Amino acid sequence: MTDDPEAIKTEILEATAAATTLDRLEAIRVEELGKKGRITGFMKELGSMDPERRKTVGLALNALKTDVAAAIEERKRDLADADLDARLMADAVDVTLPARPEKPGRVHPISQTIDEVVAILGEMGFAIAEGPDIEDDWYNFTALNIPPEHPARQEHDTFYLPGQNDGHRMLLRTHTSPVQIHTMQQQKPPIRIIVPGRTYRCDYDATHSPMFHQIEGLAVDESTHMGHLKGCLIEFCRAYFGVEDLPVRFRPSYFPFTEPSAEVDIGCIREGGELRIGHGDDWLEILGCGMVNPKVLENCGIDSGKYQGFAFGMGIERLAMLKYGIADLRTFFESDLRWLRHYGFSALDVPSMVGGLN
Ligand code: DAH
Repeated sequence: MTDDPEAIKTEILEATAAATTLDRLEAIRVEELGKKGRITGFMKELGSMDPERRKTVGLALNALKTDVAAAIEERKRDLADADLDARLMADAVDVTLPARPEKPGRVHPISQTIDEVVAILGEMGFAIAEGPDIEDDWYNFTALNIPPEHPARQEHDTFYLPGQNDGHRMLLRTHTSPVQIHTMQQQKPPIRIIVPGRTYRCDYDATHSPMFHQIEGLAVDESTHMGHLKGCLIEFCRAYFGVEDLPVRFRPSYFPFTEPSAEVDIGCIREGGELRIGHGDDWLEILGCGMVNPKVLENCGIDSGKYQGFAFGMGIERLAMLKYGIADLRTFFESDLRWLRHYGFSALDVPSMVGGLN
């Protein structure tokens, strides 16, 4: 046991000040204050001293212990600060480094096709209208002249929502045609709208998905006639497929909400399992249309003696598949990024509303 705590203190404080690493400092702390350390050892000797001496030496040892612990703590803080400064200097961010190239996102073919169709029909004076995905039976069927028990109801494979207390069931719209009804209830003619939107049918294979997209068109005015319908749709088909003299034919058909009704076919060539759009001896159906059935106008409170209109409806996925060579409709909704990188479009290539498509 030393008789000179001051000399020990000086010795330890010098060693502490000389320590340049946290490891060295920790070693000093263990050597002096640790369980088997020097000062701890002195403390243990106190028990064998006579009370007088124990008191004076005890006080001196406690003061030594406190001073040494404080000195080590302070040096530890200094070293930690210096260490942090050194790391900050070494890790400095180099703001002059070029950014890592990020793959730009792609526009989904559905969005692109909607944009293209809207750009073409928008230039003809059609405005966009929207309606709810969840419909009432009346809007989806009855008002469109598809009464209960009408065979067209079975063809639509409708998704019904759980029934309400009065037995009334809402449904997911099976086509965009109910937006014709909403619009005619809310606006007076002249009306010229297009309705891009989601539609639903219980169907799933290479050309059907339970959720898909349609664009509906409706024009109502006092003198609207079939010539307008034909001119508008022939122009649309040629602009959309980018074939100036694309053959387009109107084939008589049936829809409850139009009279007369037609389906529109465009010319195509089928060769060795390949399909090309343009001049050829084959035809491909792309949309349905007709003159609005007077009953539908009357259901919306429009005087069918004064007004007449034309309407059309087409599937967006089908239009995209034909133009961009996409074979399976289900792939539109699989969220596969490799597919999107291949079939998607640059966000800078959005079709312009004026001057045709770029
Ligand atoms: N709603 C029809 C369907 O989903 C498509 C359609 C045909 C819409 C003729 C029309 C139309 O507006 O005139 O099959």
